[in-house]
Amino acid sequence: MLLGVNIDHVATLRNARGEGDPCVFEAAKICINAGANGITTHLREDRRHIKDYDVYEIKNKLNCKLNLEMAVTDEMQKIALDIVPESCCIVPERRQEITTEGGLDVFSQKDKIKNFIAPLIDRGIKVSLFIDPEDKQIEASYYTGAKFIELHTGSYSRAYNTETEEKEFKKLYNSAVKAQQLGITVNAGHGLNYKNVHRMHEIPNLYELNIGHSIISRALFIGLDSAVKEMNNLII
Ligand code: PXP
Repeated sequence: MLLGVNIDHVATLRNARGEGDPCVFEAAKICINAGANGITTHLREDRRHIKDYDVYEIKNKLNCKLNLEMAVTDEMQKIALDIVPESCCIVPERRQEITTEGGLDVFSQKDKIKNFIAPLIDRGIKVSLFIDPEDKQIEASYYTGAKFIELHTGSYSRAYNTETEEKEFKKLYNSAVKAQQLGITVNAGHGLNYKNVHRMHEIPNLYELNIGHSIISRALFIGLDSAVKEMNNLII
């Protein structure tokens, strides 16, 4: 499995002081040099962490795979078409949430999502839809023409080591298999950490994991380079 490191929380820390430290671009460079396959950034509508210039700087100055997480808005579509990252992950966004709480409801807005992602796909961007592990969301994702999905692992991550772990894990497993049968490449992410990530190996052919909070947190104690390497060793 490949590792995409989500560096939003480096920006969260930088923005706490409103100055330049820690440098988001430098963090991205360290992650790539440590063996990460790519960098993931979520450019939120309210710009609470990643700012536009972070995304442009990574895209223009770092020779790496950039995965841009973004909401279904005209503004974000315009930015994505200007930056042309290797991939875009379409996520739901609510201003009040602390982090992306649930998956994108593709089922209820199939045609809207289909029309939204079409120009991105036409520009050669790999578009993935961040969805909960539910049959109806997978079927709807297939309908939109998306060739990638990212399964929301938040419920599994929270359930890890509790009596509902198995139930949540099975949802991920079954959803991944179903999507793959439809020819969709399956990524996963959200809430994955050094303890719970190992079960992702039980899911056949998962392509990429996008992990942020646990890596950036661990980096405070052992450094970013080591935190990325440690995670990579667990998922490779
Ligand atoms: N994937 C998506 C689509 C996300 O929105 C996030 C959180 O920004 C992540 C992965 C990473 O989640 P975490 O920070 O919990 O590892």
